[in-house]
Amino acid sequence: MPNKTIFAISGSLREGSSNHKVLTFIGGLLPADISYHIYGGLATIPPFDPGLDNDMPPQSVTTLRDAITNADAVIICTPEYAFGIPGQLKNALDWMVSSASFSGKPTALVTASTGGENAHTALLKVLGAIDSDVIEGGTLLIPYIRSKIDNDGNVIDEDAIKDLKLLTDNLLKTIA
Ligand SMILES: Cc1cc2nc3c(=O)[nH]c(=O)nc-3n(C[C@H](O)[C@H](O)[C@H](O)COP(=O)(O)O)c2cc1C
Repeated sequence: MPNKTIFAISGSLREGSSNHKVLTFIGGLLPADISYHIYGGLATIPPFDPGLDNDMPPQSVTTLRDAITNADAVIICTPEYAFGIPGQLKNALDWMVSSASFSGKPTALVTASTGGENAHTALLKVLGAIDSDVIEGGTLLIPYIRSKIDNDGNVIDEDAIKDLKLLTDNLLKTIA
């Protein structure tokens, strides 16, 4: 069976981000034949400008579009800021509207925040707008995330672990 690729995007730029740790945890659940990459370039995506969204978009945008296009699946894991989607994540997704990189792409969404309901709902709408295929059993809201991760970055909440395993299994089944 050929290798499959899962591309992961954290909506938090913070060093020590819980969302990054959740994505690392998911990576540890994957079989060895899955190529898993956690995107590190979100801060390099320039502010969305429709005037620059032409045949020669900024290189960082092209790199992100290609990574998504070439992946078999995408996982987004994000906090909520000020009752909404973190600006840097929304900005990157705005660049994906015209490229169709997400079109039909199996996608899982984890919102890991203090509350997170608003960002979660809003992101599902955005993923619909970019024609992403949010998979069945591929959405998860983890509230009070900071209390569910220990100082070493391990997810320690049993329900969160169970839910993340299930979501990961669902994604793997989708791309098998
Ligand atoms: C400026 C700011 C605004 C925030 N607003 C919200 C919010 O509206 N809803 C929420 O659930 N959490 C909010 N939080 C808390 C974040 O969810 C929390 O800090 C989370 O751990 C961030 O994710 P990270 O650990 O991956 O960086 C906010 C945090 C910051 C710094």
